[in-house]
Amino acid sequence: MNTTKTNDFTSIITGRRSIRKYDTSVKISKEEMTEILTEATLAPSSVNMQPWRFLVIESPEAKAKLAPIAKFNQLQVETSAAMIAVFGDMNNFDNAEEIYGTAVKRGLMPAEVKERQLAALTAHFSVLPADVNRETIMIDGGLVSMQLMLAARAHGYDTNAIGGFEKDKIAEIFGMDKDRYIPVMLISIGKAADEGYASVRLPIDAIAQWK
Ligand SMILES: Cc1cc2nc3c(=O)[nH]c(=O)nc-3n(C[C@H](O)[C@H](O)[C@H](O)COP(=O)(O)O)c2cc1C
Repeated sequence: MNTTKTNDFTSIITGRRSIRKYDTSVKISKEEMTEILTEATLAPSSVNMQPWRFLVIESPEAKAKLAPIAKFNQLQVETSAAMIAVFGDMNNFDNAEEIYGTAVKRGLMPAEVKERQLAALTAHFSVLPADVNRETIMIDGGLVSMQLMLAARAHGYDTNAIGGFEKDKIAEIFGMDKDRYIPVMLISIGKAADEGYASVRLPIDAIAQWK
């Protein structure tokens, strides 16, 4: 069971397993959750547009709203410190100026590179089909979710990635625009109350080829 902070990458990745039952006495402070989310968002994203958005569902009231759409994942909703809903923002390009402008201000990117890239990206996003935008934010959302689960372990917490919930309902239930915020997954997080189950991986020979 993983309950203490660790920087040991091997133990972080080999020790992670889906945990569905948590110690209900353990909460995660807003400060620490902010650290975990900050570490998660160091993940790469397409043209660095960081389309991920997080809804940290931790109050009893918010969990009560989530429970009816969480299908067979009630134990995680009931016992976790929080259920993090990961969304992708279809309007992610609205942040382009802030992201690239800040890079220039911090001396990370020459101003002319920013101008050139933003001009190209503006042209790209202005004709971007919705399904391509959606596909991209799902990829980026998957990357940030994985990083979140590993960051959680480094902080001594465990997680479970959850796809079993009513995806067509979650945004509206929490007052968000469902055409804009596309659900990627739920991630339960907390201190493990049991060991979970070890699981099998296909051998690399069966899933990889070299040419
Ligand atoms: C996108 C995604 C959706 C998942 N949905 C659920 C779910 O709804 N409920 C659940 O208990 N586990 C869910 N899982 C967890 C998987 O069952 C689990 O990751 C897999 O069996 C491997 O086990 P491990 O995470 O312990 O290594 C999901 C995992 C992923 C990546």
